[in-house]
Amino acid sequence: MQILECRNLQKIYGSGEGAVQALRDVSTSFTQGEFCAVRGPSGSGKSTLLHILGGLEYPTSGKVFYRGEDLYAYNDNQLSILRRRRFGFVFQAYNLVQELTAYENILLPVLLDKRKPDKKHISLLVEMLGLGDRLDHLPSALSGGQQQRVAIARALANKPSILFADEPTGNLDGKSGKEVLALLKYASRELGVTLVLVTHDLNIAEQAERIITLEDGAITHDSRKGAPGDGS
Ligand SMILES: Nc1ncnc2c1ncn2[C@@H]1O[C@H](COP(=O)(O)OP(=O)(O)OP(=O)(O)O)[C@@H](O)[C@H]1O
Ligand SMILES: [Mg+2]
Repeated sequence: MQILECRNLQKIYGSGEGAVQALRDVSTSFTQGEFCAVRGPSGSGKSTLLHILGGLEYPTSGKVFYRGEDLYAYNDNQLSILRRRRFGFVFQAYNLVQELTAYENILLPVLLDKRKPDKKHISLLVEMLGLGDRLDHLPSALSGGQQQRVAIARALANKPSILFADEPTGNLDGKSGKEVLALLKYASRELGVTLVLVTHDLNIAEQAERIITLEDGAITHDSRKGAPGDGS
């Protein structure tokens, strides 16, 4: 089932001489549970696309539909509720709250949403993380890879339909990067979460079911595993 779709997205930063066209006419869609990597050179518009798909940044023109609902027709409040409940975000920087323990960080989005934590789901996440009693530690006592895994669990706490990850392994060594990727794949498979992952790393991209390549703000390749690249 198609869950997210964008049509004719354009994004222009600035104006006049200094204007930068970050996205030019990007149209694509994502199905429930798919794992899609987004690749492309620095400055090709990967982060911009992720932010617009995730309701973090308005496009200059074009539309994004979540389950057929026009994201940017929502008011700010409706959009932020949708973002909080349906989307999860993971960035290169872990962005954990330093004064809270790892476990408290994971629960934070649920508490901010003024909802009761789904204990079963949270224990599943905790089990998935395999951090044991390290969950009672502050982020500063955890390795980079462990912090990023906590950030992923936090992003999944509200049971989002889509997880957006922008270079989540960018700050990590190979081994920690692999653990982080394994957790993302597990989440996508076990929880049925759609995963849209931006990466420079071809080894990581090749583990996805689908790879979108952006160049100069446009999709130049879109290929699925087991299917010839259809270029659309
Ligand atoms: N807030 C902004 N203001 C002005 N220009 C911006 C802004 N954000 C991005 N850009 C420009 O838009 C283009 C696309 O940027 P974007 O961050 O999406 O690229 P990227 O593919 O994520 O690059 P990287 O791999 O380096 O993270 C670049 O030319 C960038 O300089
Ligand atoms: Mg980027």
